[in-house]
Amino acid sequence: MRIDIITVVPDLLKSPFEASILKRAIENGHVEIHLHNLRDYVTDNYKQIDDYQFGGGAGMVMMVEPIDKCISQLKSERNYDEVIYMTPDGDRFNQKAANALSLKENLIILCGHYKGVDQRVRDHFITREISIGDYVLSGGELGAAVVCDAIIRLIPGVLGNETSALTDTFQDDLLAPPVYTRPAEYKGWKVPEVLTSGNFPKIEAWREEKAYERTRSLRPDLLDETEK
Ligand code: ADE
Repeated sequence: MRIDIITVVPDLLKSPFEASILKRAIENGHVEIHLHNLRDYVTDNYKQIDDYQFGGGAGMVMMVEPIDKCISQLKSERNYDEVIYMTPDGDRFNQKAANALSLKENLIILCGHYKGVDQRVRDHFITREISIGDYVLSGGELGAAVVCDAIIRLIPGVLGNETSALTDTFQDDLLAPPVYTRPAEYKGWKVPEVLTSGNFPKIEAWREEKAYERTRSLRPDLLDETEK
């Protein structure tokens, strides 16, 4: 997979890819991340990427031309499956969207700033708009990092234990069951006996029951009517 991220603050997007699983995914060739500074696509000397909005009103708007130049350049080099725009009024990101995006080859992610981008960018280039939640960030960069993390870890081979992404919270619209590790008893607090029993069918049944219990109590909205 290749992800091209267009931003006015590339520095914000460096560290997420320089540690842990994402770093390893890049080193092992599972994913390429390319950061593009929008200012490199501006021709005027002031490197202006935003301007006042027509009709008046507070807040600057990101101009169409530098974005057009950047996206058109990228599209002339390869085919992209999606051109994503990070914006608080986009579709709410979730595990289902992460699963679908993890199967793509080439993605562009455009990070919004200020009042957002000129509507013509959204009308003519963007194929999918994503929000990471109902709150406003100073820009789309941290949202883009969240989306990249959620999708890259799903690429086969990225996680050491292939099954662990499949048993994540949300993967089956269920919250994950509680987990424990050694010691089996700490300050008198005991691990549920079933987990140390070695009886794997029983352990699986216990995990499923706990997953439903937690989901029913914390996120009943995730369950079908019949499961509630
Ligand atoms: N840009 C600003 N706020 C955002 C949000 N909640 N999700 C995605 N991009 C954003």
